[in-house]
Amino acid sequence: MAALFASFVAFVTFEVAAASNFSPSLPPQSVFIDTRSFTVIGKNGTFRSSTFETTFNPTSTAPPFFQIFDKGFIKVLGSSPSFSEIASTPGFNFAHEAPIYVPETDELFFASKDGHIGEGGNNRVSKISMAEVEAALKKNSTGAFNVTVTPLELSDTIQMTNGGTGPFRSQLLLANSGRGPLPPSIALVNPKPPYNSTILLDNFFGRQFNSLNDVKVHPSGKIFFTDVNYGFLGGFRPTSLMPNQVYRFDPNTGVVRVVADGFDKCNGLAFSRDGKTAFISDSGAIGGDATQMQPTTLYAFDVDSTTHAFKNRRVFAYVDAGIPDGIQLDTNGNVYSGAGDGVHTWDSEGTLLGKFFLGSTAPNMVFAGKGRLVILAETKIYMAKIAAKGFDLGGR
Ligand SMILES: *[C@@H]1O[C@H](CO)[C@@H](O)[C@H](O)[C@H]1NC(C)=O
Ligand SMILES: *[C@@H]1O[C@H](CO)[C@@H](O)[C@H](O)[C@H]1NC(C)=O
Ligand SMILES: *[C@@H]1O[C@H](CO)[C@@H](O)[C@H](O)[C@H]1NC(C)=O
Ligand SMILES: *[C@@H]1O[C@H](CO)[C@@H](O)[C@H](O)[C@H]1NC(C)=O
Repeated sequence: MAALFASFVAFVTFEVAAASNFSPSLPPQSVFIDTRSFTVIGKNGTFRSSTFETTFNPTSTAPPFFQIFDKGFIKVLGSSPSFSEIASTPGFNFAHEAPIYVPETDELFFASKDGHIGEGGNNRVSKISMAEVEAALKKNSTGAFNVTVTPLELSDTIQMTNGGTGPFRSQLLLANSGRGPLPPSIALVNPKPPYNSTILLDNFFGRQFNSLNDVKVHPSGKIFFTDVNYGFLGGFRPTSLMPNQVYRFDPNTGVVRVVADGFDKCNGLAFSRDGKTAFISDSGAIGGDATQMQPTTLYAFDVDSTTHAFKNRRVFAYVDAGIPDGIQLDTNGNVYSGAGDGVHTWDSEGTLLGKFFLGSTAPNMVFAGKGRLVILAETKIYMAKIAAKGFDLGGR
């Protein structure tokens, strides 16, 4: 991989701080990559052969850093961003999915990928203190450090948490994939000890879901979630019984309905702040009979104002590295998605502004207080302090 990488770099020129469009200077830890510098690689050049094998980094900068493709990204970053590794556990994908920020306690919750009770076990939900992160950053804003990671003891009705948002009604809102015969579910978990939980939904008219993947609250207060057969493909769920699709659940009436289908593997989910636009990532290019001809694509939809059905599906962005995964938006309508080389950011029209470049997979991210973007990267967690801000994800 390193060798391929080196040869790719050799045939592509790029521009750094001197780029005239960005005078007088770029923010710290950033590199401007002029798109014109790689429009032609040429017959002697080395081309990437896969979205998975090599990432696109025609620079000599070591990650983490900001790749700027469009000057709009400078607005996102502000003039004095920082980008640091804040926790790591080599060999354990402790920071995979379901990032939830709880302002009241200034804590961030997330779920691991791997089981922690031996092979085939349940995964683990943990938390970190953002106050502890801030204290460490004060000592060294660019250095890597390890904040304390505190695992939670949750009820065993919570199996293989893969999605999370909120707080919703002051609780964590989780999408659980289920494990073996234990059903996938939408659940509330108290973000404070004793971390008691309440299952809100675990079936569709008596049938178990495939394996729930992600969840978001629409401004109307309805809960939307994606269901995809990754639990079966991962060997921890039985054969799937329904298409991979997106559901709306009304927590007041209990009514569940499908709002979008036709996906290969619907994965991440997010709404614009006004709730009028929905975004779904389709990670069809991994799992099962996947090939690279299947999507690594973010789709945008109009959300019907009364039924909340997803209408007018269109391609929002096709991701060049790995697959698109978790999605968040900022207050300016920019869209962030996890990908195979970090977090990608587009403006509301789907123009790629830049990347929070890690050179490795970042399944999900969340704004954890103003200007703090926390990125889950499997064995590591990163924090970027930037100008952009998130908004309340708890609905009405
Ligand atoms: C491509 O490689 C050939 C053979 O090594 C060399 O003669 C030629 O100058 C190269 N062309 C470019 C544009 O580098
Ligand atoms: C901060 O951390 C970086 C990377 O570990 C190190 O190179 C640098 O010397 C540190 N700075 C201070 C002030 O400790
Ligand atoms: C964080 O702790 C892990 C062991 O749990 C260690 O391997 C890693 O190097 C540490 N990172 C830093 C920046 O100290
Ligand atoms: C946990 O218990 C407290 C106290 O009984 C209750 O207020 C809260 O709603 C419970 N949370 C969940 C998610 O069940």
